[in-house]
Amino acid sequence: MSSGPLIVAIANRKGGTGKTTTAVNLAAEWGGQGHRTLLIDLDTQGHAAIGLGCAELRHGKGSVHDVFRDPQCAIMRTVHKTPVENVWLAPADTGFMSQEMDAMTLHRALFDAEVAAGFERIVVDTPPTLDGLLVNGLAAAHGVVVPFVPHHLAGVGVRQLTRLFYQVATRHNPGLRLLGLLPVMCDRHVRLHRRVLDDLGRQFGKRRILRGIRANIKLAEAFEAGQPVGEYAPRSAGSMDYRLMSQELETFFNVQEAKEYNENHTSCG
Ligand SMILES: Nc1ncnc2c1ncn2[C@@H]1O[C@H](COP(=O)(O)OP(=O)(O)OP(=O)(O)O)[C@@H](O)[C@H]1O
Ligand SMILES: [Mg+2]
Repeated sequence: MSSGPLIVAIANRKGGTGKTTTAVNLAAEWGGQGHRTLLIDLDTQGHAAIGLGCAELRHGKGSVHDVFRDPQCAIMRTVHKTPVENVWLAPADTGFMSQEMDAMTLHRALFDAEVAAGFERIVVDTPPTLDGLLVNGLAAAHGVVVPFVPHHLAGVGVRQLTRLFYQVATRHNPGLRLLGLLPVMCDRHVRLHRRVLDDLGRQFGKRRILRGIRANIKLAEAFEAGQPVGEYAPRSAGSMDYRLMSQELETFFNVQEAKEYNENHTSCG
């Protein structure tokens, strides 16, 4: 395979920081822009299927976790079309028990001619737990986005994730890039939020802090309704913020670099 899809993992060791909301709405944005996009749900909570309007897939046949049970399983056999334009889903198996696993299993599964022919973009939603699934998500990605809620303990979660980021980059995936830290449910008028953003900006560099997603109830409503916010409430703040976030990512991520990465990363070691 000479080039393949651009793969972005959404990750934070802390729970409830908007990872799945971000994965669903980023995939929908890319789909709406005409990119054939696959969302891979590594989190056995299986929430991505709910957000994409196909909750029934969590209990059906074919989940991305089949690939971890049987590395011979072709990932394309686990991929389902969703009601969202240009978006496909490899759903989670809510019954999958995490186990010892090879960190490169997902990377190998995605290194597949059918995947390369089928998709231009892949979003990987990851679990908050530190386990082999999260490591697999980071080991398979070109870049990672870290959504965080700018509260007191945000820095702890982000620092834990970045430690893991450097471990995975050192051991498995030297091309992995930290695309950005994404403030979620953020209000820059709140002093605590500004302080957390300033602290993280000092630590990781200001340009690593993305513009962010405001607190917006339409995002939660859209999720419950099984629709991306751009469909459910296209004029809402949440819709606007995810559109701007996807544009911001384009400038961070040079697609050419992904192609070079794929060309140089053909061995699945
Ligand atoms: N910007 C936002 N404004 C308002 N509510 C939001 C926003 N982002 C996410 N939410 C809500 O916050 C809750 C947690 O979001 P989400 O499920 O995306 O987090 P998560 O990081 O994937 O959680 P987990 O760690 O359990 O996988 C959900 O109810 C979601 O609808
Ligand atoms: Mg989630």
